[in-house]
Parts: sequence; C-alpha cells; structure tokens
Amino acid sequence: MAEMEIGNDEQKMLPKKEHEDYDRAKDVKAFDDTKAGVQGLVDVGVVKLPPIFHMPREYIHDHPTLNGHNLHGFQVPIIDLKHVSDPCLRKEIVDKMRLASEKWGFFQVINHGIRQDVMKEVLEGVRRFHEQPKEVKMKYYSRETEIVRYYTNYDLHQSKGASWRDTLICVMAPTPPPPKIYPSACREILLEYSKHVQSIGEVIFELLSEALGLDPDHLKDIGCLEGHTFGCQYYPPCPEPERTLGHVRHRDPDFLTILLQDQIGGLQVLHQDHWIDVPPLEGALIINIGDLLQLISNDKFRSVEHRVLAKSVGPRISLACLFSTHLEPSDRVYGPLKQLLSPQNPPLYQETTILNYLNSYKSVGGLENALSFHKL
Ligand code: OGA
Ligand code: NI
Repeated sequence: MAEMEIGNDEQKMLPKKEHEDYDRAKDVKAFDDTKAGVQGLVDVGVVKLPPIFHMPREYIHDHPTLNGHNLHGFQVPIIDLKHVSDPCLRKEIVDKMRLASEKWGFFQVINHGIRQDVMKEVLEGVRRFHEQPKEVKMKYYSRETEIVRYYTNYDLHQSKGASWRDTLICVMAPTPPPPKIYPSACREILLEYSKHVQSIGEVIFELLSEALGLDPDHLKDIGCLEGHTFGCQYYPPCPEPERTLGHVRHRDPDFLTILLQDQIGGLQVLHQDHWIDVPPLEGALIINIGDLLQLISNDKFRSVEHRVLAKSVGPRISLACLFSTHLEPSDRVYGPLKQLLSPQNPPLYQETTILNYLNSYKSVGGLENALSFHKL
C-alpha cells in the first residue's frame, strides 16, 4: 500500500509528458491491425482499459451532467405522432416539433407506426453481426468510404482518446447495391427496417417543412430524404467506464438522424451547457437535427452536440439512420433556404455541396463545429 502511494506521488511529480509518453500511434496501429475492434479486446478478457482509450479529462468533464430528476426539470421533448393525419391536431404536433428543433435539436417520437417487433429484430440483427467470430467481421473491416464497412472509431488515428465502440456502416439509399453486399447476419432485417425508416422519415420531413413555414414537400423536394445510411453501433461493456466514452461528443453530419436505441441508456445531449440523458423509452425513436438542416434553416433549427457514456454493463446497441447522400457525387448546392430569408434574417452560410461540407467535417473531426467553416 505504502509503495503504491509513493508510486502515485512520484507520478504526480513527473513532468506530464514523461508518464504519458508512450508510442500512442504504434498502439493505435496495432489495435487497428487486429481488425477485431473493441469487441476483440473484450473477447480476450481485458480487465483494464488500454491507454489508447484513456480520454483527456476535458473530453469527459467539459460540462456538468444532469441526470434523473434534475433541478432544472430539463427533459428531451417527447412528441406523440398518433394524430398526425388529423388536420386540427397536426398543428399542435408541428408546433411541438418546431420548438423542440429550435431549443433542443433533439426529440423522441412515439406512435410513429414502426412496429416494436421490427425495432427489436433490427437491433438483434446488429447484435448478431457484432457478436460473430472476428474472422467473419474482418472481411468488412475498412477505413475507406465504402457502401458496407465495419470499423472502430472513424477518427481512431486522429483522436487523443478512442471511444469504446464498434460500428458497422451500411449505405441503404438512394442507390441500393445488390443485397448480397450486406452481411448475412443482418441483411434481411436491415433492408426491411430501411423501408420503414424511409416512410417515417417522410412524415418527419413533412412536419419539419411545415414547422419552417414551408410547403410540406419542400424538404423532400430539395433532396433531404433521398439518401440514408445506417450506423449500426455496438458498445461492449467497459472495464473502466469513467476513463473513456462510448461515443465522444459530436454533431451529426447529415440533414436528420433517426436513432433507435436499446434499453441500456448512456446517450446524452448538450442542453444549456449541461449534459442531459436521453432516457430509453420503449418503442420510441429519437430524432435529431443534423448540421445540414441547421445550415439550410439558417440556424432556426439546431444541430446539437451529443455523446454516449461508456458503461460497465452491456453491450449497448443502437442504430443511427443518417439522412444524407454523402456517397453520391452531386453538384447540388445547399445554402440557407430563400423562403426563410429577409432583411432581418440575412443568410448566415455560404452555399456548399454535401461533399464539400463533409470534407470540412472530416478535417476538424467531430469535436469541432464544421459549420463554422461555411459561415458568411
Ligand atoms: C451517432 C450517434 C448515438 C447512439 O451514431 O451519430 O450519435 O446512441 N449515436 O449510438
Ligand atoms: Ni450522433
């Protein structure tokens, strides 16, 4: 015990660099080369967090966390879509969605029409993929932009601390590849869920158009609903959850995200400088505004930072459906919508293609606001 205390004191006295000075790049490369992801570490029984996952304190403790019944009474809005086709009650839904998109950038929807068994099955499909032997998953392991790929931490080689999470990316639309490209562990259910999420996406984009005071088809007409990509996330149980995160804070680089999470919890959204839990709600879908919708709405709707805590329990499984056409080369430019502008509300952003915007997103990593590069 005494020895340990001396050890700790010595460590504190050392110049910071000396005890942090390990060859991080080498360790990162070795980990990447395993092509087995975080789950590969869990499979071999790691009981301590490998140093490449140690996050700088300021990444984790940047804002206070308010959970449970917080004093401010902050709660991510929940919107019931049951009466969406009733013209009188629809207005109330549109008003709630406008407020949520302006103030939170996040809300949960219930009674959205996707059956619970489909939602359960698709999360099971994601689990099946990630829980296969590493030899099967490795074939999909890649850091290139591809229609289907498996990897861990998209910014593994740039970040100062890796997140405790593996990801399977599947581009589902607008140009569906031959189905056999998708992993057989989840192929059928991903294709089925894709159809459901497309129809609910249509409803949400109509409501958001109305919330902006536009024709209901407006956001669809300019292509917001054209493409969607699945981020199938797997957060294994973490041996030292307080030293890392499941998903470091970021904004989403799309128009809109529809997220399905399981019952484990850990997702938090930044609201008025506090991290607020987005509690699991059986049967609900989480919707959040992405950067591109913030840009075209000229900051009326907000793309808000969010993160996922690491947990000792798990795995936690989620499926993020990102609406954008980021793999389709397109000359289409997006800027603040003319209908929303006036002398009092001048455009805040330059026009940009999706690809150009994504390049700035990648250049800064998720931690910074890529939209600032497109400000006028
Ligand atoms: C994302 C994301 C949250 C989650 O994939 O962009 O924020 O709960 N996911 O997995
Ligand atoms: Ni996200």
